[in-house]
Amino acid sequence: MKIVGIQSSPRGKNSNTLKLLNAALDGASKAGAEVESIDIAKLKIKYCTACNTCHETGECTIKDDYEMVLKKLLTADGIVLSSPNYITNVTAQLKTMFDRSPLVIHEQLFEGKYSLSLTTAGSDELDFVLGIMDNFIVHCGGKTIGGVGCSVARGPEAMEEAIIKSREMGKDLVEAIKEKRQYPEQEARHEAWRERFKYVVLANKDQWTHNCDYWMEKGWLKE
Ligand SMILES: Cc1cc2nc3c(=O)[nH]c(=O)nc-3n(C[C@H](O)[C@H](O)[C@H](O)COP(=O)(O)O)c2cc1C
Repeated sequence: MKIVGIQSSPRGKNSNTLKLLNAALDGASKAGAEVESIDIAKLKIKYCTACNTCHETGECTIKDDYEMVLKKLLTADGIVLSSPNYITNVTAQLKTMFDRSPLVIHEQLFEGKYSLSLTTAGSDELDFVLGIMDNFIVHCGGKTIGGVGCSVARGPEAMEEAIIKSREMGKDLVEAIKEKRQYPEQEARHEAWRERFKYVVLANKDQWTHNCDYWMEKGWLKE
């Protein structure tokens, strides 16, 4: 079992959020998973240009580090997304990675994968940022087991508590993958999305040939 963690704070080893990510990956590793951490803030990932070529060919025209990141995410059973709160949002680094993922969304390529979200903030604005990461995963066809957040203003004890919780959640991520845990509300969202998006794929079938073939193969275009 493979779990890939994404770090997106530009503060490298000084990052508060990295402490939560390291704890979650440590928990996952102790529970038997092979873990890997990717610091996307150190990589070159350009903005999506909205050329839509990926929907036609299955490949992005931009050749940069996103290709390697996506490959690792696609081979992972579990994903840990982490980001500090930047203006009540994820960092630009993580948002850029999200924006490069329309193929993952159109073809629901995270189907069967489980995730965990982690954030730290100066204030108590934690849930909104965790929700952005959870929503990305569900939008890509995956399932989230939830998240851990910490307001650094609450001091070192709060951080210690969040580190302990992140380690437990990392272990739980491994359990969720092992038992193929069901999340009926998220599964209903996947189904509702596919039902709505079917018409978008059909409306673009002449251009989005890769998407269309994929949907046919999956049997998602049936009435
Ligand atoms: C550009 C920037 C924007 C921020 N915006 C917010 C914010 O809107 N709300 C908040 O609570 N904290 C905000 N913070 C504080 C960080 O979320 C907080 O310090 C966090 O722990 C940093 O994580 P890191 O050490 O992993 O980079 C911001 C920090 C920076 C540098």
